Amino acid sequence: MIQRFLLAGASLAVSLLAQTVTVDLTAAPGTATLAPGITVNAWLYNGTLPGPVLRVTEGQTLRVRFRNGLPEATAIHWHGQPVMLGMDGVPGISRPAVAAGQEFLYELKGLLPGTYWFHPHGHEMQLDAGLAALLIVDPADPRQDPAFDLEYGVILDDWNDTLGGGFTGHVLNGRTSAGQAPLVVQPGQRVRLRLLNAAAVTNYVIALDGHPLTVTHADGNRVQPVVVQAIPIGIGERYDVLVECTNPGVWSLAAAAIENRNVTVVRGIVGYAGQTQPPPPANYVPPNLASGALLTYAQLAAYHAVAPITPTPDKTFTATLSMTMGTGGMRHTINGQSWPNVTPFQVAPDDQVQMTIVSSGMPMMSEYHPMHVHGHFFRLMNTVGGTTRPPLKDTVLIRPVGQAGASATVQMLMDNPGRWVFHCHNMEHMASGMMTAIEYSGDSDGDGIANRSDFEPRTAAPVTFLSEDAAAFRLGASDRVYVQWTAGQGTALFASPGELGSPLPVPPFGFLHLDPAQIVLLGTAVPDPTHRAAFPYAIPNSQTLLGLRLGFQAFGAASLPGGFRLGPFQAMTVR
Ligand code: C2O
Ligand code: CU
Repeated sequence: MIQRFLLAGASLAVSLLAQTVTVDLTAAPGTATLAPGITVNAWLYNGTLPGPVLRVTEGQTLRVRFRNGLPEATAIHWHGQPVMLGMDGVPGISRPAVAAGQEFLYELKGLLPGTYWFHPHGHEMQLDAGLAALLIVDPADPRQDPAFDLEYGVILDDWNDTLGGGFTGHVLNGRTSAGQAPLVVQPGQRVRLRLLNAAAVTNYVIALDGHPLTVTHADGNRVQPVVVQAIPIGIGERYDVLVECTNPGVWSLAAAAIENRNVTVVRGIVGYAGQTQPPPPANYVPPNLASGALLTYAQLAAYHAVAPITPTPDKTFTATLSMTMGTGGMRHTINGQSWPNVTPFQVAPDDQVQMTIVSSGMPMMSEYHPMHVHGHFFRLMNTVGGTTRPPLKDTVLIRPVGQAGASATVQMLMDNPGRWVFHCHNMEHMASGMMTAIEYSGDSDGDGIANRSDFEPRTAAPVTFLSEDAAAFRLGASDRVYVQWTAGQGTALFASPGELGSPLPVPPFGFLHLDPAQIVLLGTAVPDPTHRAAFPYAIPNSQTLLGLRLGFQAFGAASLPGGFRLGPFQAMTVR
């Protein structure tokens, strides 16, 4: 019998509305107890470290009613999921962050099955302070998953004491080695572990003493099973593995930093039910961690059919990773450029793009770079998958100059028009400039005009943007509400203080969320070439307005069946 155990994490108020799952998610300051006697200050999703597991089934829409209780702006990035640009949560490139004290409704459609995660973007210190959690999407057809009896999430993280509390080190599922409770298994079970590296700056190797690991998924995507002794896991990467529980005992699930496999930096415990021996010491180094054969990318092949590697890509790029000494200190670079002073890679819809990502610079200075692309998957070349079954990944760990794996060649199918970032997931490298963008050009909206503004034609929802500045919501403030939609098409913005408990379907336009009895039209406008239409507002300086919550919904003209689309609900609160 297959038992599915809930992964660790807070239980969520989940309401099922047909094919829509709605969850409430709050980011706020709090504390986390990493081990008995070690309590640190943290920024947390729903008060827990790691944050709550968000879980839906393929085909369901996930609506995340997000409230920002932090003292600064934040955004959520749905790592690895090719969501629509307006929901990708990258301030400065896809949408503004959510201001302190405000809210945003993330509406995620077409989520792909697998193990994913979410975290803030563009505010590097926030991820480090504890804001990270799993997003799991189960396949609509359970037969698309391998059979297993039990599952656990395993989230590795480095704790850098950004907010004070006095602990610096590594944690597994939000606990140090001293704070671990065993992951309990029964002899004969097949256990699925969903491994995630959510660290700020540490790439790990992980191994389970006494057990090989059968890799079934890489970055959410199913691969042909590979049996390995230890797995290198770069920041942002996920591996799903199966463990055959045929070796009773109490075992160390140990992680080392990739630079030194001879030191266990954190370990969890896998304990067979009924075994009473004490857990292995925290500093014990399992033999397979120190010297077991490591998983390599070359061993991976896609399990399901994927777009094959083409010998004739439409565009071929190189991304050279390096460092340079600039004014203000050392900067990390891609092709000699440091974010935000970059020239984006230009692509066209449906391009097959080939990119070689390569570490460069002095070997002694060179570093590991877990390179991540938004909105798309890499198809890794030069693996056992060959040209027909290349594994799909969203993050590829580029090793230092002089090591095998110091470069990787990938192809990407450009099937999600927009403007997307491509960056190193080491938060220090990213903060010091190791980020660039991939931009679509060409006639992606099919309006017969090929121009640089052809973003987001396929997503069919005008998205409302509010300011990321908390001052924009104060009494007496004036600012703008923006609607992101196809350039040149008309939009209208509606507002209402009331929100329907269950949104009213208005096919094919979408769902009406605003209470029709209180609805007002704020105006109409045409999005400019940056895809934005501006709707100015002014909040009267009247105390009676404090706490007023005003909902917005945009309506957009579209060259789509029905001719119009309703966007998701958004709201502001006067503070
Ligand atoms: Cu996990 Cu651009 O991020
Ligand atoms: Cu890097």
